[in-house]
Amino acid sequence: MKILMIASEAVPYAKTGGLADVAGVLPKFLARLGHDVRVVIPLYGAIDRWKYRLTPIPGALGVWMGALGELWCGVREARLPNSDVPIYFIEYERFFARQGLYNEPDGQGFLDNDNRFVFLSRAALQLCKKIGFSPDVVHCNDWHTAAVPVFLNTVYASDPTFRHTASLLTIHNMGYQGRYYSGLMDVLDIGWQHFNHLELEWQGQVNLLKGGIYHATLFNAVSHGYAAEILTPEFGHGLEGVVADRRDALRGVINGIDYDEWNPAHDAYITAPYQRDDMSGKAVCKQALQNELHLEPRPDLPLFGLVARLVDQKGIRLLAEVFETLMAFELQMVVLGSGEAWAQNFFNEMAARYPGKFACYIGYHNGLAHRIEAGSDFFLMPSVFEPCGLNQLYSLRYGTLPIVHAVGGLNDTVENFDEYRHSGTGFKYQDQTPQALINTVGWALSTWYHRPDDIAGLRYRAMSQDFTWQASAEQYVDLYREATWRKNGRPDT
Ligand code: ADP
Ligand code: GLC
Repeated sequence: MKILMIASEAVPYAKTGGLADVAGVLPKFLARLGHDVRVVIPLYGAIDRWKYRLTPIPGALGVWMGALGELWCGVREARLPNSDVPIYFIEYERFFARQGLYNEPDGQGFLDNDNRFVFLSRAALQLCKKIGFSPDVVHCNDWHTAAVPVFLNTVYASDPTFRHTASLLTIHNMGYQGRYYSGLMDVLDIGWQHFNHLELEWQGQVNLLKGGIYHATLFNAVSHGYAAEILTPEFGHGLEGVVADRRDALRGVINGIDYDEWNPAHDAYITAPYQRDDMSGKAVCKQALQNELHLEPRPDLPLFGLVARLVDQKGIRLLAEVFETLMAFELQMVVLGSGEAWAQNFFNEMAARYPGKFACYIGYHNGLAHRIEAGSDFFLMPSVFEPCGLNQLYSLRYGTLPIVHAVGGLNDTVENFDEYRHSGTGFKYQDQTPQALINTVGWALSTWYHRPDDIAGLRYRAMSQDFTWQASAEQYVDLYREATWRKNGRPDT
């Protein structure tokens, strides 16, 4: 099949979260399954054109932006690392030549994010026409590219390049929907008749994700659990009714992880390799992490790690609430992340108050993320909601027992410890309350101190879990096939 993947970020070029891991890695596995897959992302200012050998495609690309007129951009091309998969970068300085992907340095979203990502969506389709690539499926991701299914069903509906093209919209996060002033309809330029309560209109505004859900041939959430949750008011962020209207087209596919990148047996970022049957390296990694972060060099104390965007979704308010209680326990903790100012300040203050016991690094640091996975004993994910979550999957592979709120992908991928049956891969709690989190950390601690054999068993089982992209890629191929049948009829009928 011919597949066009469009996303706002992809590893290794540009990343703020798990979406980049998906958009940069899934295509390689699709290619290994024999498909012709190509990726499109913006050429952000922070992407190193020389390091990644981006070569310009001759000629400019005209992109119709309605009220803004036709904008002309460049396109550069490369191959995803260790693959033949072409990736195209949309080069338009006015929109993309900035350091941040979505935000000003102070965390404020760029004021023109609506135009930037509508532009990306339309430019990707124009690019197909330019290079003569007629995709069977366009795979779009989150609100940034949710305008693509809308365009395919409207202004490109009779375009020969896309006559047979189906669309799949993957929802990585319902918390971000791309809601903008209604005047964006004039930029989309698909006709105001599509500004209605079923398609793009949402409380008087344009809602791009809503339009995408309405128009996509199929759509999916990044876990089965989350697919079920977004049908409910608690997790639907207001769009649960829209999702319910299209529930026959809703699927769930869990993300994989890249075991070439996240594997303690050969991880270039960590101090000592280790594996399920020889864990001695993990103790070395813990000691090195304690040194790196100026924690007391105590092998006996359990070390709790957290790596996340510091935003409400990740449950950091709850963590802040119980923080001082946790600090009274016999443990150490490390936080790596960046995000909301209050959270950054809070963790910095706590690091000053609890030197040797708590450390934080505010910022983005991939190497340190690896070392925290390797050097910690437990990994905290108290997320309010978690569509999939990748860190718990990394944690399982690193034998770092996840402590998670039982939602979305966390609930699907972590099996709760059962001390009688000696089963499970981590510790789960049901209610997002201070007491539940404290109790669960307490449960992990008592297991650590009183039942070390159980910790070893949990680790062994955790490290035996397998969340390869191979399996998820096969499920995506099934969805692509189903989408093309929905669009064009089954070939054998
Ligand atoms: P989300 O996409 O909601 O942020 P995921 O768990 O799917 O959550 O993915 C987060 C990814 O981003 C992981 O690969 C994680 O290691 C990485 N990450 C998040 N914050 C940082 C940070 N400050 N430094 C390094 N890596 C980070
Ligand atoms: C989102 C979600 C996260 C998921 C990631 C990749 O950012 O918050 O749970 O793992 O997308 O799908």
